[in-house]
Amino acid sequence: MSKRRRLIVANWKMYGRLTSGLVLARDIAAFAETARPLSFDLVLCPPATLTWAIGETLQGTQVMLGGQDCHTATHGAYTGDISAAMLVDLGCRYVILGHSERRHGHGESNELIAKKVEAAQVAGLTTIVCVGETAEDLKAGATAEIIGKQVRESLPKNIRTSDLVIAYEPVWAIGTGQQPEPKDIVAVNRHIRNALGDIGETVRLLYGGSVTPSNAGGILAEDEIDGLLVGSASLNADGFWAITEPCRI
Ligand code: 13P
Repeated sequence: MSKRRRLIVANWKMYGRLTSGLVLARDIAAFAETARPLSFDLVLCPPATLTWAIGETLQGTQVMLGGQDCHTATHGAYTGDISAAMLVDLGCRYVILGHSERRHGHGESNELIAKKVEAAQVAGLTTIVCVGETAEDLKAGATAEIIGKQVRESLPKNIRTSDLVIAYEPVWAIGTGQQPEPKDIVAVNRHIRNALGDIGETVRLLYGGSVTPSNAGGILAEDEIDGLLVGSASLNADGFWAITEPCRI
């Protein structure tokens, strides 16, 4: 069992309309109520359009709210963007930054992500910073090197470590049904802790990529892995709650 408090995060990506999103959030919160007090942290990151409504639904529950991205600035002429302070206004405590779908789909660099992390922490959010190698990196045996570089370059100088979480999400494992072995995730986590230096032992490290109720237990059995970042399997309340089972003590 990990010595850090476990954290399970749902990343709904661009899924969920008003009714379906509210029902899903309400059902997950109802499951969490059956395990009060929760022995781990549970966070939902819905699409930005649902943040306000879901924030209302989650009030007084044990489930926390997060965003999927934020801008580097507090406000300004940035069409389509959302600032960290705006997420805080809506009740968010967490934000996912540097997800591979933003790194690859929106050309986000390590440098930009570091600025976002800084802005989010200034606003008071806990930042879930995603790193992960591509299939080509894996084939070339470059995983440790790529991950180390992403960790070092995606974090600002003045990082508040109590509000830092790192999610290892191999790009080739996202939405593919493929996954590294738990021992390989542990090996990458060791690289991440080394790259973090002095703060390495305190930061929570999550795994993400094709997590399901049937493989979550094997991953969470590892002391080195402090939780999960779950995509498609978080869109079903029963399945998502089943994923949290090993964290419930
Ligand atoms: P899947 O769980 O759908 O593979 O997505 C993982 C992910 O990208 C979570 O951020």
